[in-house]
Amino acid sequence: MFSSSFRQSLKNTLFKRSATSSTSSKSIIHSSILPLPKSSLLIACALGLGIYSLDARSAINEYVYCPLIRFFTTAEQGHILGIHCLKAGLYPRLFSDFDDKILNVNVFGKILSNPIGMAAGFDKHGEVIDPLFNLGFGYVEIGSITPEPQPGNPAPRFFRLSADDAVINRYGFNSVGHLEVLARLKYRFNNLINKNPNAELNSFQKDKFLAINLGKNKTGDEINDYLKGVQNFGPYADALVINVSSPNTPGLRDLQNESKLTNLLTKVVNERNNLNGELINPNIKPPILVKIAPDLTEPEIASIAKSAKDAKIDGIILSNTTIQRPIDKLITKGDIVNENGGLSGKPLKPIALKAFKLLRKYTKDSNLVLVGCGGISNGKDAIEFAKAGATFVQLYTAFAYQGPGLARKIKDEITSELKKEGKTWMEIVGSDDK
Ligand SMILES: Cc1cc2nc3c(=O)[nH]c(=O)nc-3n(C[C@H](O)[C@H](O)[C@H](O)COP(=O)(O)O)c2cc1C
Repeated sequence: MFSSSFRQSLKNTLFKRSATSSTSSKSIIHSSILPLPKSSLLIACALGLGIYSLDARSAINEYVYCPLIRFFTTAEQGHILGIHCLKAGLYPRLFSDFDDKILNVNVFGKILSNPIGMAAGFDKHGEVIDPLFNLGFGYVEIGSITPEPQPGNPAPRFFRLSADDAVINRYGFNSVGHLEVLARLKYRFNNLINKNPNAELNSFQKDKFLAINLGKNKTGDEINDYLKGVQNFGPYADALVINVSSPNTPGLRDLQNESKLTNLLTKVVNERNNLNGELINPNIKPPILVKIAPDLTEPEIASIAKSAKDAKIDGIILSNTTIQRPIDKLITKGDIVNENGGLSGKPLKPIALKAFKLLRKYTKDSNLVLVGCGGISNGKDAIEFAKAGATFVQLYTAFAYQGPGLARKIKDEITSELKKEGKTWMEIVGSDDK
C-alpha cells in the first residue's frame, strides 16, 4: 500500500522523533515533517483525503465532489454516474449509522427504524437498493417501472437549477420494463434469503422497507398496466405505490379524477388481496399507496381523499414534481426555468406542504398513512411535514445536491430537535392538528 520511499521516510521520521525527544514540541514537528520527500507528503495527503472522503458525512462530498460532478456532467450524466458508482460500490460509507429509538415509526403494523425515505425516480430500475439502505435511508422506493420497456422522452430531459437547489425533469417514465427489474429482484431475493433466512421484510434490512413504484406505459392501459405491476411486484415489495402524478406521461394526471381513481384503486386493492402474499412472509400482503401531484385544488384533494378511503388503500404520498414555476421565488432566470417537465427541490417545498396540509384536513378522520415529499432538504423540513401529518417523508433532489451523507445528516438533525422538544417522532406526527 505504501511506497518504499514513504516507508523509509516514516522510519526516518520516527527515528528522529525518538532521538529528539528531549527537544521542544516545535522542533519535533519541524523535524518530523521536513525530512519527508515531496512525493511522500503528497501520498500522505492523498491518503488522508481518501480516508476522510470514505466517510459519507464528510463535507467534502457536498462541497467538492458534488459540485465537481455538476461541473463536468449534464444532469442526466450525473444521475447515471451516481447509479454506476453506487452499483460498483464506489461510494463513501456511514461508519456508524445507529438510529435512535426516538426516530422509530410505527406504520403498516411494522416498525420503520427512521422516517427518511428515498423517493421514486432515483433508482428507477432497482439497481442500487442496498447501497441506498447503506446510506441510512429507512425506506427505499424504486421505479416508476412500466410493464414494457420504453425509452422515455428524448434528451435533454433533465435540467439543473443549481442556484435554487432544484431540478426540472421530463424523463417520461424511461423504464427497462417489468421483466428486467423482476429478474434483478429475484436474483437479490435468492441471494439474500440464503444469507438471512429469518429476514422479515422484503428489504432484507431490519426495520427498513423496500417500496416499488408502478407506472403505466405511454400507450399502455390505464388499469391493466397497474394490475400487472401488483401481480409481478407485490411478492417482492414491503409497499406498492401507484403513481398517477407524473407530469410527463400524457393523460396520467387525469387518473386523479375521482371516479377514475376510485375505479383504479379498487381494482388495485382487489388484485393485491388476490396475491398469495409477500415472498418473505406469505401471511402478509403489501400495503398500497397512491402518489399524487402538488398541483391540485382543494376540491380535487378532497375527492382524492374520498377515492382513497372508498377504495380502502393504505396511504397517500404527496407529492410528485410540480408543473408550477414560482418565477418570483426562483434565483435561476432564463429559458431553463420554462423547460417542460416537473420542478422539484427547494422551490417545491411550500407548494407541496400547502397541498399536504389540505390533504391532512380531508384524511385525518381515517387510517390513511400520509407520506410527505417535496423539497425536503434538512431535519427542519422533515419535522414540518411530520407535524402537518406525515408519518414518514421522502426526498430525491436534495440528495443529488448534498450527496451521500444527507439521510444521516437529516436523522441527526431530527434526533437533536426531538430531544430538545422531549418528544419522539411518532409523538409529533400530526401534532399541528391539536
Ligand atoms: C429526475 C427525477 C425523476 C423522477 N422520476 C419519478 C418516477 O419515476 N416516479 C415517481 O413517482 N416520481 C418520480 N420523481 C419524483 C420524486 O419521486 C419526488 O416526488 C419529487 O422529486 C419531489 O421530491 P424532491 O423535491 O425531494 O425531489 C422524479 C423526480 C426527479 C427529480
